[in-house]
Parts: sequence; C-alpha cells; structure tokens
Amino acid sequence: MGLDGQSVTFHEDVAPIIYGNCTECHREGEIGPMPFTTYAEVAAYGEFIEYVTSIGYMPPWTPDPEYSHFVGEKVLTAEELETLSDWVSAGKPEGDPAANPGLPDFPSGSQIGEPDHVLTMAEPYVHDGDMTDEYRVFVLPTEFGEDASIRALEVMPGNHTIAHHAILGLDDSGQAAALDAGDPEPGYEGFGGFGFAALSSFFGAWVPGALPVDYPPGIGRSIPAGADLLVQMHYGPSAISESDQTEVNVFLTEEPIEREVTTAIMGPQHLDVPFILPPDQISSFHGTFPVAADVSLINIAPHCHLIGASWLVYATSPDNQDTIPLISIPEWDFNWQGFFTFPTLTKIPQGYTLHGEATYDNTASNPFNPNDPPAWVSFGEGTEDEMFFVFLDFVLYEEGDESISLGPDAPCPGDLTGDDIIGVSDALLILSEFGCQSGCQADLDEDGLVTVSDVLFLLGLYGTPCE
Ligand code: HEC
Repeated sequence: MGLDGQSVTFHEDVAPIIYGNCTECHREGEIGPMPFTTYAEVAAYGEFIEYVTSIGYMPPWTPDPEYSHFVGEKVLTAEELETLSDWVSAGKPEGDPAANPGLPDFPSGSQIGEPDHVLTMAEPYVHDGDMTDEYRVFVLPTEFGEDASIRALEVMPGNHTIAHHAILGLDDSGQAAALDAGDPEPGYEGFGGFGFAALSSFFGAWVPGALPVDYPPGIGRSIPAGADLLVQMHYGPSAISESDQTEVNVFLTEEPIEREVTTAIMGPQHLDVPFILPPDQISSFHGTFPVAADVSLINIAPHCHLIGASWLVYATSPDNQDTIPLISIPEWDFNWQGFFTFPTLTKIPQGYTLHGEATYDNTASNPFNPNDPPAWVSFGEGTEDEMFFVFLDFVLYEEGDESISLGPDAPCPGDLTGDDIIGVSDALLILSEFGCQSGCQADLDEDGLVTVSDVLFLLGLYGTPCE
C-alpha cells in the first residue's frame, strides 16, 4: 500500500524505479535479454523482477554498498524493493497512464564530450549465434606519433546486444599484433588476459551503463608513441549471429600531466602461500602489500576467474587501530567485473598495509566451476585457470585530494531552484513543500520527509554559490 492508502500502481510507483534502474539495459538494442519499457513488458515479468531484485542479482552491482561507495552505484533502496513487491502482491495494477514519468532520454553518443581521437576495430567481428560466451582481443594501433597524455578513454561498443564487458590493455612490444596476425579472423582469443605480459593489462574497463573515468585537471596517464591499445571484448550468448565493431574515444588532457596515474598490482607474489586450488574445497588467500608513500586512490579492480567467490580489500594502519575499507564483493561474478571508481580521491597514508582477501569455491556446487568434476587449479590465463589480482590506480597524495570528486559534476544539494546559489528562493521552496511525505523535492537530508531538519540543512549552506 502506498503512503496515501492507495494501492501501488505501475505508472505512478513502479515505472520510475524500472526506468531509473533497469531500462538503460533492458530496451531494444541493449544487453538486457528482455525490454522493460511499457506496462505490458514489465507486468509480464513482475514476479521474476521481484525475485531478481530481492536477491540483489539485478540491477547488476557486485560491490557491497554498506562497505564502500563508488561512482555510478546501482542499488535499489529498501523502499524501492518494497514498492516492487507490494505491486506484485497487489496483482500488478496498471494505474493511470497520465502518471507515467515517461522514458528517460538515453544519450547515444559520448557521455563526456567530443573526443580528440577515435580508435576503431579495423573490421567488424562476427560473434556466432550459438548461445556461447566469447572473449576476444582486438588490437587498435594508436598512431599518435608522440606520447599522448590521456584524460579519459571511453569504450563505445559497436553492438550493445552482445557487448557484455570490455577490458583495455596497452602493448608497446608488438606481441598483440603478432597474435592477431596469427589468427585468420579479426583479433585473437583471450579469456582472462591478453596472452602475454602486456605493458598494462588493466588500462581501463567498461560494463554496460558505466561512465568513463574522466581524470580531474592535472591528472592523467600517458600512452607511449606507437603503442597499441588492446580491447578485450566479452560477447554474451546470442541465438543469432551478431556483428560488432567497437570504438574507443580518446580524450587528451589540455595541459601537460602534472600527476601521472600509476597502477599498483597486488598479485600472487604477495601471498604467503602458493596459489593452488585443490578440488572440492573452498580456499582463501590473503595478500598484503606495504604502502610506501602517501597515495590517493582513483579506482580499484579485483580480478579473478570463474572459481572466484568473494573479495575484500582494505588498508590498515601500522598499529592496526585504523582500517580504511576499499571494496567488498560478497558474490564475485566474472561477467560483471569492472573498475570501480571512488567518489573522491581516497587517501592511504604511507606505512599502511594493503590487504586483499579472496575466496575460491572449487566445489561442484559452484555453478560457474569450469571443471566437472572439480580439478586442481593453478594460476593462468585460461578459462579453467584462476587468478588473484587487485589493480589500483593512484597518484601521489597532495593536500586537499580528499575533496576532489571523481564522479560526474556533483549537483549542489541545496540549490533546489537551480539558480546556482543557495538562497531565499530555495528556502521558499522548502516552505511550500513543508510536511511533504513522499517524492519530495525539498527532502535535502533524504529522510523521506520535508521537516525542520531540511530547513536547518539549507541554513547551513545558505549563500553558498554552486558552479
Ligand atoms: C547494466 C545493465 C543492466 C541493468 C541496469 C539491469 N539489467 Fe537485468 N539483465 C542484464 C543482463 C546482461 C542480463 C542477462 C543475464 C546476465 O548477463 O547477467 C539481465 C537479466 C535480467 C533478468 C533475467 C534473469 C535471468 O536469469 O534470466 C531479469 C528479470 C532482469 N535482468 C531484471 C532487471 C531489473 C528488474 C533491473 C532493474 C532493477 C535490471 N534487470 C537492471 C543487464 C542489466
């Protein structure tokens, strides 16, 4: 039941949740297997939607939001989950179509502007319609002529119905091009890596709906002259053959880079035991790694394969009195791995220890176990091998980094009227909504109601200019 005693309806209550959290992928031409754009489409899957959201399977978001937050976090609130299940229990009533908020505008081009260069797969690749997953590496020569200072890389999949995720790498040795030349079809096969020790094996990543990492001014990374950008595409199962020609938008920094982004890698060499997974066992590994200087983390990407079950990454102070939580992935899902970007630069002081804990379920009850029956598994790049990596992009810490935002421009929370200043017009809007109990625009402290605490929140910011 809604707060006003009325039954929950599709157009008024459910459509905003589905359109805001699901339709980006669940519409024609996108990766979601069924569209959720109309009442009939959503109602047909009502019970299934209630189920997959209640177990946290959809929307896809593997990090635990109670442990740490990232840019682009996709999670439903307890209230939204309740609305979905109330709607299903009430028999999925449609309600008044006039109350439907309308489908959001899904931009098709770049999400961050006009790129300086566009790198394109040399020719389209056909992913067969045989209902299997495919992992393939494509080599994109950069041909910039000199070292390039990069502000952002944006993967633009050529075919959204099959592009499930992409991992970028960098090669300055020609080995990737040689592997490509040795394979008659465009690109070459590669599951958990690029097939050799690349200059960077995690230069960025993309999953549907992700925003590219756009470094703040002064921060960037360099692509050496003549290097090849590698794009490892994961194509999801499809019943019909589909063709893809993915592009990568390259954005250069306007000024020379003052602070170059470096990738720290925790790997099997940081474990105190050999990385071997016996069959029919759940194994845990704990890597540690000293932090040698004050650093500011930008993003984090734990990486393992199909036997991987969970991850926990954090940093501790030398006296163990302070713990900085970084990421917890309680149920690892290979197909939804990615780079997770911290909302602001995240400081780890010198002398702290970085910890990476991973568990692997090498039993028959792991539905993703590639070996039937379970077998001895060791480190390697193949589907049946495993990995233990945490990739962390960072810059050396500078005073004030904690307030540098890495997400899209943060809206100014008190600027309700959008006039770029927190002032009297915002106060009047709060007063006009005073007592509001649902869907309130003026609910600044996000407690669901407009009360005196929202007025106090506004007074605390009064007079602040917004960009
Ligand atoms: C980032 C893209 C994305 C978003 C956002 C998303 N989905 Fe999905 N959904 C998928 C993909 C891809 C699949 C196919 C299964 C897979 O690959 O994990 C899927 C599968 C499903 C399925 C079928 C499950 C099955 O096992 O067959 C349902 C139901 C579903 N999604 C509901 C939702 C709902 C409800 C939301 C919003 C609350 C949502 N999805 C948000 C991409 C997405």
